[in-house]
Amino acid sequence: MPDPAPFPETLTTARLTLRVPTAEDGPAMAALVNANLEHLRPWLPWAQMPRTPEQQQGSMARAHDKFLQGEDLMYLMLLEGQPIGSCGIHRIDWAVPSGDIGYWLDQRREGHGYVTETARALTELALKPAAAGGLGFERLEIRCDARNLKSAAVPERLGFELEARLKRHARDPQHPEQFRDTLIFARWPHEY
Ligand SMILES: CC(C)(COP(=O)(O)OP(=O)(O)OC[C@H]1O[C@@H](n2cnc3c(N)ncnc32)[C@H](O)[C@@H]1OP(=O)(O)O)[C@@H](O)C(=O)NCCC(=O)NCCS
Repeated sequence: MPDPAPFPETLTTARLTLRVPTAEDGPAMAALVNANLEHLRPWLPWAQMPRTPEQQQGSMARAHDKFLQGEDLMYLMLLEGQPIGSCGIHRIDWAVPSGDIGYWLDQRREGHGYVTETARALTELALKPAAAGGLGFERLEIRCDARNLKSAAVPERLGFELEARLKRHARDPQHPEQFRDTLIFARWPHEY
């Protein structure tokens, strides 16, 4: 892990603020997830059932703790102060270091480039050398269900390389008897 650990609690992009969640964000985020369940269910195993504000408070508090420990860097995406989704750098392995970017967006906000803008900012943070205030990653991935064309379009726009297709890699969240393929897109600080 870089020392001192440069985990900015807030990042700003042209139109958005990315901010680490706290327990107080629980009720607003529960409402946003619950309003988007039909949109999220096909792709995200954690988004199958509605959640209560209290459950979401606990989940946001845990995300905050993991952020401070550098285990998982989750950010809320805020547009004019209101949450419109979340994103983060997950599955971090500081031994390399490496990790992957994840995201979801309020369906009403799709089609404006907000996620691409967010993923661009996270890519810059991850791949910038630690000496320059970044995380100094050697490898950054974006993974998605091969059928999720809107998700795959994000790394494609940002110049990630399609490195692998893992066949029958996971179960479909809504139809666990069916298997799905996973695409792995990657970027590195230097081109190979
Ligand atoms: C995957 C997901 C985040 C993509 O959202 P999105 O709105 O398509 O992505 P962006 O915010 O980057 O917007 C891109 C769209 O805005 C358009 N756009 C408009 N202005 C743009 C700009 N300045 N920059 C980039 N794209 C722009 C693009 O053309 C594209 O539209 P298109 O799909 O019609 O080609 C969203 O569909 C989602 O939350 N899905 C459910 C959860 C999920 O699948 N998460 C990922 C799991 S791996």
